[in-house]
Amino acid sequence: MLNIALPKGRLGDKVAALFDSAGLGCAQLSDPGRKLVFEDTGQGLRYMLVKPSDVAIYVAHGAADVGVAGKDVLVEGNYDLYELLDLGFGRCDMCIAAKNGYVEDPTRPVRVATKFPNIASAYYRSINREIEVIKLNGSIEIAPLLGLSDVIVDIVETGATLKENDLRVCEKILPVSARLIANKASYRFAADRIDRMSQTLKGALQ
Ligand code: PRP
Repeated sequence: MLNIALPKGRLGDKVAALFDSAGLGCAQLSDPGRKLVFEDTGQGLRYMLVKPSDVAIYVAHGAADVGVAGKDVLVEGNYDLYELLDLGFGRCDMCIAAKNGYVEDPTRPVRVATKFPNIASAYYRSINREIEVIKLNGSIEIAPLLGLSDVIVDIVETGATLKENDLRVCEKILPVSARLIANKASYRFAADRIDRMSQTLKGALQ
């Protein structure tokens, strides 16, 4: 069995459609209900549905051989794994955003709310700007509205969440898309099979 970790949620629907069109899917993937593990014994594939931010953890630890994760999560976690293919969807940008009319005070550190403390710290380090990181787990856009932070570092896809909360993009700092990833040891033992899967998915994308 090749174990495949796939994301649930917004990205998951697109990934299920891709695997399906590549002939690698299994019927339940697009309508999984509450079940989290599916097997296609004919193809020797086992799928596990996990939180998008956890896919790379399963793959890095070898609990899954391959998976699909966003570049945002991969950069944030700096995982020891192989990135095999840019799937070209799930496109969005990691951005700095602030309230409309926000003006930075250069005399003190910028207070940055984010789910991505490593990406935020690396960016501000690269421009030599001191920050205070406020780590949140979701609904980041609320932080500047309530004065918890000056700015946020978060992904922007359609821009609707920013717009509806009176925020604007100040800077795009990282383009993001979904990537096919593989555990390093799994890849050593099953390179042919994993490469075939990667090629099949690439073909389906075209
Ligand atoms: C993500 C991100 C933004 C939103 C951006 O949140 O953190 O809040 O999507 O998308 P948009 O530009 O299309 O509006 P997610 O939906 O993952 O939920 P979360 O707030 O719980 O992290």
